[in-house]
Amino acid sequence: AQIRFDVLTLFPEMFSGFLSTSIIGRAREKGLIAAEVIDFRQFSTDKHRTVDDTPYGGGGGMVLKPEPIFRAVEHLLADESEKPPILLMSPQGKPFTQRKAEELARHRRLVLICGHYEGFDERIRQHLATEELSIGDYVLTGGELAAMVVIDCVSRLIPGVLGNESAAAEDSFSMGLLEYPQYTRPADFRGWKVPEVLLSGNHRKIEEWRRRESLRRTWERRPDLLEHAELTEEDRAYLRR
Ligand code: ADE
Repeated sequence: AQIRFDVLTLFPEMFSGFLSTSIIGRAREKGLIAAEVIDFRQFSTDKHRTVDDTPYGGGGGMVLKPEPIFRAVEHLLADESEKPPILLMSPQGKPFTQRKAEELARHRRLVLICGHYEGFDERIRQHLATEELSIGDYVLTGGELAAMVVIDCVSRLIPGVLGNESAAAEDSFSMGLLEYPQYTRPADFRGWKVPEVLLSGNHRKIEEWRRRESLRRTWERRPDLLEHAELTEEDRAYLRR
């Protein structure tokens, strides 16, 4: 496999449908990606298989203990010479972006640690994780969905995972702009017509229309993206119109 994902979670069953379905399922069957899901409760040392405890200093909730998570990671990486990124899924992390996905896709292996409900002992953050990632400014019940988001985004960047090799390079964000509107048959659906230019067969005109629609859509919905997008002088002229 070109990349291997090791997921540490207390709820491995959450990953089974995701890892065996559609593009991700197919990529695993083809051996393009590999994924291992480990229940870190297995690495707890006491007879009750404890993974969390009450916080020092009091206050509500439970905190994930360091021992099981450290032991699970050390077990995974026992015979690994180059240290892979160890990603802690948390709403306190750095924002996960398309740029971050592209960077992570250059590694051979990624370790993803998911918490559930509770917080992590700070030593997991400071002495085990190499990076803490958030998938957005909202709070999930656990890091599992976040880990699936990261695995999904990274996997589709691996050569061969998407059927169409140009698809990953052309979609929203990697270009820095939102995608243009797309249509398929029929040319007239209930009186709603496909833009004439798309039926014209004039590929230069079609490319120009698509570029402008991308610019227009980005301006209307996500003007913040235009600050970092690669724009030509013609793009800028269109936006000033
Ligand atoms: N765990 C809970 N909420 C999260 C978020 N927004 N991103 C990553 N991990 C999380």
